[in-house]
Amino acid sequence: MKIARFSRIGFILAAAGSAVGLGNIWKFPYITGENGGGAFVLVYLLAVIFIGFSIMLSEMFIGYLAKSDTVTSFEKLAPKNKNLWKYAGFQALTGLFIMTFYSVVIGWIFHYVVTSLVALPASVEEAETVFTTLLTSDAWTQLFYHTLSFIFITYIVTKGIKGGIEKLNMILMPLLMLILFGMFAYATTLEAFSQAVDFMFVADWSKITSESFVSAIGHAFFTLSLGMGAIMTYSASLKKESNLVNNALWVIFLDTTIAIVAGLMLFTFLYQYGSVPAKGPGLVFISLPAVFYEMGVIGNIFAIIFFISLAFAGLTSSVSIVEPMVQYLISRFNYARVKASIVVGLLFYLVGAVALFSNIDTFKEFLTIGSRNIFDWLDYITASILLPLGGLIMAVFVGFVIEKQRIESIMKPQLGFAFEIWYFSLRYVTPIAMFIVMLSLMGVL
Ligand code: PFF
Repeated sequence: MKIARFSRIGFILAAAGSAVGLGNIWKFPYITGENGGGAFVLVYLLAVIFIGFSIMLSEMFIGYLAKSDTVTSFEKLAPKNKNLWKYAGFQALTGLFIMTFYSVVIGWIFHYVVTSLVALPASVEEAETVFTTLLTSDAWTQLFYHTLSFIFITYIVTKGIKGGIEKLNMILMPLLMLILFGMFAYATTLEAFSQAVDFMFVADWSKITSESFVSAIGHAFFTLSLGMGAIMTYSASLKKESNLVNNALWVIFLDTTIAIVAGLMLFTFLYQYGSVPAKGPGLVFISLPAVFYEMGVIGNIFAIIFFISLAFAGLTSSVSIVEPMVQYLISRFNYARVKASIVVGLLFYLVGAVALFSNIDTFKEFLTIGSRNIFDWLDYITASILLPLGGLIMAVFVGFVIEKQRIESIMKPQLGFAFEIWYFSLRYVTPIAMFIVMLSLMGVL
């Protein structure tokens, strides 16, 4: 199969576009808040460097070497037991599961772009009512925006790697950075900026629990888009002369910088204008709109461009989340790209719609299984089980299954003396860390 090739900058922006998503701007600030700030940020940075980098490089390596979809890649590179290893390609399915609720959340963001244009809530209480009403009783609004999100994402993916994904990222990523850095520059002029810096960089170790470690590692993993073949699938379109280490470092640098910039900016605004220290998932959808209201006219403008940038971040991640499954249907079943994209799109759209209804009061009861509704199950199964499992498999596959010589011949010239450290980490540190994280997130530990 002929695969289109990314340009160098196109690849870095597309992979960074995948990594920089709702995880950076929505989740990172709120889990930092929940875990007390500085010490958590430090643990997270260590997890990014030691675990995130190792796995990102392995994913890039598998994709670059096999140049195929996830299933065929494992099959091609396993020296023996090909029939067994191909099941490691299940990772493409993880994307489909993630996309179901990711698309619903992007829908909420679209809705917030529109409400920011019309009217912002005047207090945190009002903002909470607005958000809760949307989530638990306004199925049609959510469905409308979920539909828009599905149409947009599917359309881009039908256009392929070059004409769709690369193009989208070349436009949206610079715009996203411009918006975030612009708002960040404004935040640095406010008095509360130093409070935000203290909160994020002064470590208070008493706030750190074993759960904080797990959530830092889990998040480092999610935010870098690892464990589901997105980076692997993009890397199948790398040019032969690409330097994987360099690419991985760029992606990690951009992802981390954007998370920190978003965090500092949001905490500055919250300290400067907010009365309640915001924690939890409501930070962006509840505390922030109320804070923007307090800021006056500039707050209105900020609210609109902030939610637009959040939508950009979500959309560039989304295309990478569906692409592995699309690529799989193209190369294993000979689907035309348009057909593959529509099939995958419809699947996430329909399951996403069910997930959406499972948050609605009237339907909740029927769409709850055991302790969770379908929306929460999808989030739980992907973030707590499938992604860490995907990472674990990737590390074991590169660390133990592919012949070392083969890896050395490509990676040693790029990594130099660090090659052995990376290899050791892949064999021992990363799999053990991923295993512990998985068990803890599942509540077994
Ligand atoms: N990295 C994205 C985020 O931080 O929002 C989410 C994500 C994208 C996870 C792609 C996994 C993935 F393969």
